[in-house]
Amino acid sequence: MKGILLAGGSGTRLYPITIPISKQIIPVYDKPMIYYPLSTLLASGIRDILVITTSQDLKLFKLLLRDGSQWGCDISYATQAEPKGIAEAFIIAEDFIGDDNVSLILGDNIFYFPSLRNMISPSFNLVGASIFAYHVSNPSRYGVVEFTDNNEILSIEEKPKNPKSNYAIPGFYFFDNNVISYAKNLAPSSRGELEITDIIMNYHHAGTLKVVKMDKGTAWLDTGTTNSLMEASQFVHVLEKRQGLKVGCVEEQAYLMNYINKQQLRELASQFSNGYGRYLNSLLDD
Ligand code: TTP
Repeated sequence: MKGILLAGGSGTRLYPITIPISKQIIPVYDKPMIYYPLSTLLASGIRDILVITTSQDLKLFKLLLRDGSQWGCDISYATQAEPKGIAEAFIIAEDFIGDDNVSLILGDNIFYFPSLRNMISPSFNLVGASIFAYHVSNPSRYGVVEFTDNNEILSIEEKPKNPKSNYAIPGFYFFDNNVISYAKNLAPSSRGELEITDIIMNYHHAGTLKVVKMDKGTAWLDTGTTNSLMEASQFVHVLEKRQGLKVGCVEEQAYLMNYINKQQLRELASQFSNGYGRYLNSLLDD
């Protein structure tokens, strides 16, 4: 299972903050936004990762994430010339995906999963597609899934004005290799983008789409607006302060997954002479 971390886009809803800089670099409380989806991929067991961003922001991402070897993973990069839609990622990533299955996570989506591995591991050898559904109060901003009483999929709609359910589709998806040909055959939507919902619909029509409802204890936050960005920062702040544990800490995740050893974690910790470094050091004693 390869992983694509999609961190392009234009971030217009966060202007003027994102005029000079990618949304996924700006902080969510104590880390750059991209740390959260990256640590979700690492925690899922995905270590071969392609970051797709804009040519303008590429340099910053490389400075921040390097080649991933410091975290025991492999990070490569590609650029998207224009924000022509999430589904274009699979065309850009064709060579990277090769013959493998692939997951895609959006760079502005934050997950807090108490039992991530249990939810994710069935998706690794999948035939078809596996996506999540998450109950939200404001589904119109997202792709929305409607279920029958037997939990079968009744409909899927992108950003509906009158949503038929409260189940939104979070930005973390798993696909088999057919995703490349599905993406290549997509036509742009009325807003001129290659839509991920259209890819999902292809799998639905082929009868190979699985939708997993996320546990109630899971948090899914997106950070695309100033309010949701602030709320995500507050959420992370409250959890970290209360528990004394970090959320979305890439170094910790790499250590917990045994991608790096104690000595490597010690070296990473020594780069930070602040609370972040002290936190990493404290993990060595646990
Ligand atoms: P969006 O939040 O839908 O778009 P955006 O980031 O361009 O922001 P805005 O609507 O405020 O202009 O994107 C969701 C995620 O997908 C985000 O992490 C950026 C990424 N993305 C791309 O990398 N390329 C694209 O073509 C699109 C549409 C999104």
